[in-house]
Amino acid sequence: MTGQPSRRHTIAAGLAGLAAVGGVGACTRALGDSDADKAANPALEMCLPGPEHTAREFRGPRQAGIIEDPQSHGAFVALDLATTATRDTLRRILKVWTDDIERLMSGRPSLTDQEPELAASPANLTVTVGVGPRTVAVAGATAPAWLAPLPAFPSIDRLEPRWSGGDLLLQITADSPTTVHHAQRRLVSGTGDLAAVRWVQRGFRDPFETAKRPMRNLFGQVDGTVQPRTDGPDDARLWVGADGPEWLRDGSALVLRRIRMNLDTWDEADRGTRENAVGRRLPDGSPLTAKAGSGPDVPSDLSATNSLGFPTIHEGAHIRRAAATAAHEVFLRRPYSYDDSVGSTSDAGLLFAAYCADPVRQFVPVQQRIADGDLLNTWITPVGSAVFAILPGARDGEILGQALVT
Ligand code: HEM
Repeated sequence: MTGQPSRRHTIAAGLAGLAAVGGVGACTRALGDSDADKAANPALEMCLPGPEHTAREFRGPRQAGIIEDPQSHGAFVALDLATTATRDTLRRILKVWTDDIERLMSGRPSLTDQEPELAASPANLTVTVGVGPRTVAVAGATAPAWLAPLPAFPSIDRLEPRWSGGDLLLQITADSPTTVHHAQRRLVSGTGDLAAVRWVQRGFRDPFETAKRPMRNLFGQVDGTVQPRTDGPDDARLWVGADGPEWLRDGSALVLRRIRMNLDTWDEADRGTRENAVGRRLPDGSPLTAKAGSGPDVPSDLSATNSLGFPTIHEGAHIRRAAATAAHEVFLRRPYSYDDSVGSTSDAGLLFAAYCADPVRQFVPVQQRIADGDLLNTWITPVGSAVFAILPGARDGEILGQALVT
């Protein structure tokens, strides 16, 4: 079952008593409307009403930052635990992060904040914490079988260690790049010498995305159309259930692939070639089997043929290779574009973030079909890969990873 997730963006209609909802499962409110908010951070007094003051809810059975509308700026930060790390080390990190993240997401500075003014604009900040296989071993818990590097895809992978692996993950996303920067700095410095940054991958999306103006990647394609439901029916595909380890119940899995997109050779391809490679039109994202201008949400017809009897959507078209061939081959995509180009040659692409309950079962078969013959492979190259278990949310009185470290 598929459907477009909500893309409504938060509208801050003023500070007084406003409570806006930013998407399915997102609880968003404007800060500064209570004396308590102002006492917690006096910098709020100076601020004008606006979306930079909306805050998402931290507490709950599941972490924020997965099913809500994606914010326009993001940083994925992987850290490695010190070689001497123990379960106690991990508990200390998660305790500090829980407190800091709760504060920062609600517009309050962390306890040791050197720039508390920067915390006054949470801008829909979410920080989502994940763990890699070594961290689970350090905690003395059992990792699910999927918590390991993906199998190799030698026909396409050109993976670089500097974008791969990691013991801990911070996924930091907000509608302000300054907010992302500030949260990243506070949370990384909060680990002291207990953990060290392994890599940072920063990305962006169009801040003006709406249902009528969906996400476009750097190839100009409408991206993120066919998605699982995020309002309940597909929950078993997105969240770890009773069949997973106890400590991960209501957690998820993140597969992060850094995929370089060769914008220079893409520029040389004509529009027919480009549309054929995906199976959708560039102007409106409509499938090649639907009327031009009908928009991205019309379902594609993979069985349609043209007047010569050939498939209208090419055998190697991305939407044919990526389409689920079984009900479980479903995951949520929440990608960010990146551009690290220096000079005239492009070094840009997609931080392809996919969430599901079991990547080996749900993600790998799709990635394998893409590796085996996707027309897009002419222009795209995976250069980084990491898999993390996304911890369950922290309920009232709990720390993140409570069941893992206590
Ligand atoms: C830079 C790399 C990639 C680009 C530029 C890209 C682009 C696109 C575009 C334009 C669409 C059509 C609109 C939509 O439904 O979102 C699409 C669909 C899709 N992509 Fe990708 N994609 C990339 C990588 C991947 C990877 C690595 C996977 C998974 C392994 C994947 C899985 C999917 C899925 C599941 C769909 C929906 C297919 C359907 O049922 O119609 N994509 N992608």
